[in-house]
Amino acid sequence: MTETVLLVGGGGREHAVARAVAAADADLYACAGNRNPGIARLADGFESLDATNPTAVTSYAREVDATLAAIGPEAALAAGVADALDDAGIYAFGPREAEARIETDKAFQRRFMRKHDIPGCPDFETFEDMDAAAEHVDEYDGHLAIKPAGLTGGKGVRVTGDQTTKAEAKEYVRESEYERIVLEERLVGEEFTVQALVANGDVRVTPAVQDHKRAYEGDEGPNTGGMGSYSDATLELPFMDEEEYMDAVDVLEATVDALEGYKGVLYGQFMLTAEGIKVVEFNARFGDPEAMNTLPVLNTDFLDVLMAAREGDSLPQLSFVPRATVCKYAVPDGYPTDPEAGAEVTVDEASAAASAEGSDGEGLLFYASVDEREDGVYTTTSRSFAVAGTADTISVAEETAEDALEAAGDGVRIRHDIGKPDLVRQRIDHMAELRGE
Ligand code: AMP
Ligand code: GLY
Repeated sequence: MTETVLLVGGGGREHAVARAVAAADADLYACAGNRNPGIARLADGFESLDATNPTAVTSYAREVDATLAAIGPEAALAAGVADALDDAGIYAFGPREAEARIETDKAFQRRFMRKHDIPGCPDFETFEDMDAAAEHVDEYDGHLAIKPAGLTGGKGVRVTGDQTTKAEAKEYVRESEYERIVLEERLVGEEFTVQALVANGDVRVTPAVQDHKRAYEGDEGPNTGGMGSYSDATLELPFMDEEEYMDAVDVLEATVDALEGYKGVLYGQFMLTAEGIKVVEFNARFGDPEAMNTLPVLNTDFLDVLMAAREGDSLPQLSFVPRATVCKYAVPDGYPTDPEAGAEVTVDEASAAASAEGSDGEGLLFYASVDEREDGVYTTTSRSFAVAGTADTISVAEETAEDALEAAGDGVRIRHDIGKPDLVRQRIDHMAELRGE
């Protein structure tokens, strides 16, 4: 029987999932609030609907006779879309609302780590009274991260001693209308992501990726959803060793054990500090951009993972092409504070692939928040599209991504420094300095 997979979500991450599903022998249908032209071309059907509406998603899944579903965005998980699909008899690869709290409620997440003795938990306290929280900022001996408990698209966190002074942080806490907030010790080091495919108690990990959250080159400016990311041809990254990667895997395994019955992607965001790895956060889905690094080098059939998950079987071991990847987002001018929509997107999938010809790299285009009109594809106010280069080394993968981005026209901005040898070297030097080497 041919499987029919419903993909929920229309960003760059979901375009990567769509490619992985389309590479297998499956019928693909997709639904999202925005029409992603890349996904629409791969799918047999694309429905524009509110991906956070469980009833709408489930009725589309029934209409297309879906036998499996893959859920991309956290907002859909938080809204109970996986619960609704599961309850309708359509296996959703994505956690139910209660398990997704590991991402959607940062206060729950920290308490959960403490309760189950998950390694890598920073010192933290949670607050509902913002005046008490502001007082804690004052009294705390050291720098802090201030984190709203709910979802903020990666944009709600403030870190003192980094972007913010303690006085500004107090003001932020007092003036915010957040109901609950987590205050935790500031972690200093290099951040990295490890994503795992999880079901039936199995945890299948993927190579480490480093995202770049700051809007501008040199890690300046406000936080964004992620401007770009790279991975190496090995499981670890150049600034860490294999043992540190395995420490991250241990955290993911301990978390899955404690969560019981978790299914979908578990994403660990780690800080490699001078004292070892600490957990910055968990997400209950693939990272965006990280999915665009990971899925193109996944050798194992993604559909086999989904089917084994549904059947209650052991998940297949994952294998990866030993290639480095560099992914860069093109975002509208002014993003994230004053984004200007409406620029024409002048790169397409064929031009990205063609730009890598003659080199040993491969270029892939992923559409994100764009608007496809009769006369072309245009930017909106969110991240527009990404290009991923894959090659034997990070530096060639970076050059490949840049070659593909040469055709990007006006009206978009790119962090050209991501994956360049200089910035990768800075990460290595930063860790060496913290370790006192
Ligand atoms: P989040 O919304 O949890 O992804 O946080 C956004 C960003 O804030 C992270 O990627 C980190 O760069 C930063 N951050 C979060 N928690 C901490 C912490 N305890 N120490 C330092 N930076 C942090
Ligand atoms: N790249 C960060 C995230 O997906 O949350």
